[in-house]
Amino acid sequence: MEMNISLAMKIKTIELNSFRNYDHIQCELDPQLNVFIGANGQGKTNLLESLAFLSSLRSFRQVSDSDLIQFDKDYARVSCILEDDIIDKKLSVMIHPSGKTLRYQNQLIRKTSEFIGLINTVIFSPIDMSFFEDAPRVRRKVFDLEAGKLSRLYLSQMLIFNKSLKQRNALLKEKNIDRTLLDILTKQLAKSQVEIILYRRQMVEFINSKINEIYERFSKVPLHISITYEETLPDSTNLENDLIHLYQKSIDKDIFHKTTQKGLQRDDFVFKANDIEISKIASQGQKRLVLLAFKLTLVEYIVSLSKSYPILLLDDVFSELDEYHQKTLLKTLPKESQTIITTTQSKVLKEIKQPMTVFTITDGQITSRRTTHE
Ligand SMILES: Nc1ncnc2c1ncn2[C@@H]1O[C@H](COP(=O)(O)OP(=O)(O)O)[C@@H](O)[C@H]1O
Ligand SMILES: [Mg+2]
Repeated sequence: MEMNISLAMKIKTIELNSFRNYDHIQCELDPQLNVFIGANGQGKTNLLESLAFLSSLRSFRQVSDSDLIQFDKDYARVSCILEDDIIDKKLSVMIHPSGKTLRYQNQLIRKTSEFIGLINTVIFSPIDMSFFEDAPRVRRKVFDLEAGKLSRLYLSQMLIFNKSLKQRNALLKEKNIDRTLLDILTKQLAKSQVEIILYRRQMVEFINSKINEIYERFSKVPLHISITYEETLPDSTNLENDLIHLYQKSIDKDIFHKTTQKGLQRDDFVFKANDIEISKIASQGQKRLVLLAFKLTLVEYIVSLSKSYPILLLDDVFSELDEYHQKTLLKTLPKESQTIITTTQSKVLKEIKQPMTVFTITDGQITSRRTTHE
């Protein structure tokens, strides 16, 4: 493999104010491995959520931004200092009930698309466990979040698409539909999908080319894994024209149903093992491993495009794995990535041979910090 990439994102310090159950903490992180130990309900997931939020400006849980603000507080703030060769970079987000204020190097950033992806994190979380059974929207969100961090074009087209779709659907509900406006919105809607579809296609192709090799590191029993991108016009090579044509053909149906029937908003990513949908056949244990392999493949995808290792956030992942898989996962994680692991069990530490810093979280406070570095 051509791996002369050495860049890796590293967070030096993270600071939280009125975020979930954190009043105020400031925490210096290990550039390599960080382990946060705490009993249930102490704030482990909240901490990782704050870092993932800085990366994608959305919670990876199915909640709205205002849920992140501490009960009875007016706002929350997440900030971090990112290590850089030349000058350390400061990022911060203030979350108000009505919106967000973004700052990079103390400069106000007005467009979310200019902030998303400044830091790149990948989260491994047990809430992913329903991933294969969830509605297509949940799987699209995962792909959209990852693509959005890597491509401004993807993000901006997604914004245009969502807006056009909303406007078109509103128009379709009107009594007397302005056909000229409908035509304009249809063209906009078609055009905005092209880059997104092409991006999703190549992302799936990359993942399919790598995921089996990664899965085999975990399991001695091979399982042929593949993702099928289910899209409206899978064979189209002239998406804009073909989409416009499709919308024109189905215009009466759209008017009848008062909503846009076809398009990106219906896409799905179907995960298969030996050509059968994973949701139908795999055991819980296999699903867990397929998910791990998928996330690790995403990490490789990010590295291949951004030439930089993302920060890995592993939320209580070890408690679900047996000892063999715990060890394999630890060995498989790219050493270049700064990694943050949370766990309820300090016995996980025995498996870890590399230098690390161990923190204890108690009720939204970091109550101890010790490092095994010299
Ligand atoms: N907006 C909020 N304000 C204050 N506390 C919150 C808020 N949201 C969640 N919490 C508290 O955070 C705790 C759960 O933290 P979490 O990080 O999920 O725990 P765990 O360590 O088990 O991962 C709960 O006690 C919950 O009440
Ligand atoms: Mg948790």
